Amino acid sequence: MGKRIFIVLLGVPGAGKGTQAKMLQEKLGIPQISTGDIFRYNLKNQTELGLLAKRYMDAGELVPDEVTIRMVADRLAQEDCARGAILDGFPRNLEQAQALDEMTAPDGGVSLVPLIEISDEEAMRRITGRRVCRQCGAVYHIEFNPPKHDMVCDRCGGELYQRDDDKPETVRNRLYVYYKQTSPLIGYYFCKGLLVRVDGSRPIEEVHQTLMHILAERGILPQD
Ligand code: AP5
Ligand code: MG
Ligand code: ZN
Repeated sequence: MGKRIFIVLLGVPGAGKGTQAKMLQEKLGIPQISTGDIFRYNLKNQTELGLLAKRYMDAGELVPDEVTIRMVADRLAQEDCARGAILDGFPRNLEQAQALDEMTAPDGGVSLVPLIEISDEEAMRRITGRRVCRQCGAVYHIEFNPPKHDMVCDRCGGELYQRDDDKPETVRNRLYVYYKQTSPLIGYYFCKGLLVRVDGSRPIEEVHQTLMHILAERGILPQD
């Protein structure tokens, strides 16, 4: 078995991590692991984890590390991660980054860290216009990536909704938390030679092509 590939997508809330992770998942055949999506799934199913996470998510704060790190470790141990994973929204602080280094050490650590860059104004526009499918999690934007039919998912016909934490006050705090706690990871991964900056203000398909190009250039594409 070859080494597993671990791609960490960094970027402010609304940068397009989830959008790009889903596209890479389809192309590369390695799963997207979104900690935010796992928390929301648990909340929908009223699990203990979901109810715990809700308190933090509603405030735009990070869920405690011990909970989040254990959750990711369990997820990475599942069979579909045999060739690696695309991490979306994890790690989000230095403790989580160090924990991920340990988890991925047998495979030589994290493979690449694309930083998807957009302005704060653009982040606000993207988040306030975002709609998500309740059933399959597909992500839309009322202006930039609208569904064919109002409030109905193109892929599965599910109902589209607005995330609870996408209110402007909560978004501002999520940005604050990003700058304070997550942005130090830019330096952390830069030092390891893993950081690549990507212009996230381009259209969705262009950002995807840029990411694919970088992966090919670095020889980071999964072997069959
Ligand atoms: P999480 O769900 O990870 O939210 P986030 O990081 O704030 O990021 P978003 O999902 O808002 O943005 P995104 O970059 O995925 O953008 P998207 O692709 O949707 O986390 C939520 C909460 O969970 C946290 O606040 C925290 O409480 C908790 N949590 C999660 N992980 C944690 C962790 N590791 N530790 C502790 N707590 C954790 O795109 C946004 C919009 O823009 C969409 O409408 C999309 O259609 C549109 N769009 C995307 N790309 C483009 C483009 N190129 N051009 C035009 N529009 C675009
Ligand atoms: Mg997301
Ligand atoms: Zn759907």
